[in-house]
Amino acid sequence: MINKCLFPVAGYGTRFLPATKAMPKEMMPIVNKPLIQYGVQEAMDAGMRQIAFVTGRRKRSIEDHFDRTYELEDQISGTKAEHNLAEIRALMQSCTFSYTRQVQMKGLGDAIRTGETLIGNQPFGVVLADDLCIGDDKPVLSQMVDIFLKYQCSIVAIEEVPHEDTKKYGIISGKHLEDRLFMVDAMVEKPAVEDAPSNRAIIGRYILTPDIFEVLRDLPPGRNGEVQITDALNIQAKRKMVLGYQFKGQRFDCGSLEGFVAATNYFFKTMIA
Ligand code: UTP
Repeated sequence: MINKCLFPVAGYGTRFLPATKAMPKEMMPIVNKPLIQYGVQEAMDAGMRQIAFVTGRRKRSIEDHFDRTYELEDQISGTKAEHNLAEIRALMQSCTFSYTRQVQMKGLGDAIRTGETLIGNQPFGVVLADDLCIGDDKPVLSQMVDIFLKYQCSIVAIEEVPHEDTKKYGIISGKHLEDRLFMVDAMVEKPAVEDAPSNRAIIGRYILTPDIFEVLRDLPPGRNGEVQITDALNIQAKRKMVLGYQFKGQRFDCGSLEGFVAATNYFFKTMIA
């Protein structure tokens, strides 16, 4: 089983300024629940109960969210409002939470490398909480665990995007292996539209084998001067195998204004239905 899930949450969230000037992007609520809580719920549903955060300065409220708030809880004890805390309390009872800080925001690859101290030598999930995913029959991370149990290698979740959007994502090329599964030959980070090898984009769900840390340790900065996880996965794909899994479900890119509003509307409708 995979017990640990890493949440890189150190990014600046510049697309949401000024909201993210003093508040973490991951604490922005979709209706009444912060983005990060949806992600942690998905990890827990996939059996990953050891939650590891790579945080940064100005991210303290994430730690506070997964902790008791004694005065408030005392005040609302026995009232109707207490019900609103049921889900977060269930998460807190079932999971453990650990934190380390990325000191300089040198990219997602660097954030994952920073998480090694919390993960150790075992396969682990990675959730980028600003990608809010809704699985069809089961959560996306749970679908990926099923694939991992069969293939025991790193897996990236992929989604087909319009060709003109390929420049916003890591894009894979690879051979079709079986239903929804591709053996990755190469990944290109945010290619120009004419250079994109396909329209299969990597989204914010990964299962990684721990040898990724060894690759990341020696990896120089790539595109935009950032340490890119796609560069590390390219090396893993050459050394052994990396799979791309076209998940069953829907994703909202809550790192963008359009996706954030679409997710808000979606969850509000399900709430009042
Ligand atoms: P994004 O590319 O979405 O960057 O990072 P961002 O800073 O969060 O947002 P914008 O683009 O400025 O609006 C993808 C994920 O990787 C994390 C982010 O927190 C986010 O979850 N990340 C990125 C880090 O933890 N550290 C980094 O150095 C970069």
